[in-house]
Amino acid sequence: MVKKQAHKMENVPFSSIRKVFAEVDKLKAQGKDIISLGIGEPDFHTPRHITEALAEAARRGETHYTPNKGIAQLREAIVAKIRKDAGVEYDSEEIICTVGGTEGVYVALTSFLDPGDEVLVPDPAWLNYVHVPTMNGATAVSYQLRDESNFQIDVDAMRKLITEHTTMLVLIDPSNPTGGVQSYETLERVAQLAVEHDLLVVTDEMYEQLIFSGAKHTSIASFPGMRERTIMLNGFSKSYAMTGWRLGYIAAPLELIQVMTRTHMYTVTHTASMVQWAGLVALQGSQDCVCDMVAEFERRRNFMLEAVRNMKGFKCNKPDGAFYLFPEVSGTGMTGEELTKFLLTEAGVAVVPGTAFGAYGKYHIRISFATSFERLEKAAERMKSALNKL
Ligand SMILES: Cc1ncc(COP(=O)(O)O)c(C=O)c1O
Repeated sequence: MVKKQAHKMENVPFSSIRKVFAEVDKLKAQGKDIISLGIGEPDFHTPRHITEALAEAARRGETHYTPNKGIAQLREAIVAKIRKDAGVEYDSEEIICTVGGTEGVYVALTSFLDPGDEVLVPDPAWLNYVHVPTMNGATAVSYQLRDESNFQIDVDAMRKLITEHTTMLVLIDPSNPTGGVQSYETLERVAQLAVEHDLLVVTDEMYEQLIFSGAKHTSIASFPGMRERTIMLNGFSKSYAMTGWRLGYIAAPLELIQVMTRTHMYTVTHTASMVQWAGLVALQGSQDCVCDMVAEFERRRNFMLEAVRNMKGFKCNKPDGAFYLFPEVSGTGMTGEELTKFLLTEAGVAVVPGTAFGAYGKYHIRISFATSFERLEKAAERMKSALNKL
């Protein structure tokens, strides 16, 4: 008989976000006109100079294995980027190039979690941070991010969750799904807590370049005593519109990197060689493409926030980063899951139910505004008229 799934997989469900994609694809294949605000990826194509760099690298013969951590040139460019943007100094040996940010999450968590360990994870959160601990026999313990505090971490509440089993703390900043950005003061207090309790901190900074005017992102790795206990995760998917390329990176002190390199080498060997060369051009070339995309995301954020705030039964915080709104929708009389179904059938608009990001999302939905302005206008109009019929 074919072996049943491993016990550790029994509580690991299929991604609810991916379920929405599958449903949208099915409806589109039936000829239905669906506007998807579910997907967490820029609608822009990767900038031309980056795609050209990939083609050029392939022609040049960059088609062989590379070092496990990635080519030295790319790792050096990542070191320079982190120095400039986060003000934290790494050596190029302290960088691993990964297969998207997702592999970085897997490698960081798998390398340091033992069965029985507890890891503090935000709720709501991108749920890899719940399921990867489960796959390692560890437990994700949720700390709540609440609407009323604009999704800032409640450090006193977080402190109460720490037990003798807590070994790791995860931050997603800016957040998927809330778009919230932690303030300097909040991060300073979280850093003190991590030092006090000797916790390893995983900081997911995938959206760190997608920050809107008036807001500022600070890396927790830059606080005193933090560099040595922080694993910084970042990547190219969101800021350079490179989701399909699968290129991310980990920065951490050498001692931690040596452990993660082994997980990485026995999982994927390294990320595709020509993709690494294109990543180098993304970092070293003009950053105007990033600025232009961020400016457009901000224009869409402003439009969609205003539209959503005027929808019957919706309340919504203003996100300072990423490309998501996370409205509270209990005023519609529906849960987030019911509303998601309603919007799909009655408005032809796909969103993601808040429960795809944890229990706190029961009365929330996630709306991605990483789609064209015209599509957003149309989606908002359709949502409004469907809700007005309630
Ligand atoms: C917070 C966060 N971290 C990591 C990732 C993974 O990004 P990638 O597509 O590079 O694997 C995502 C993707 O949605 C994300 O939202």
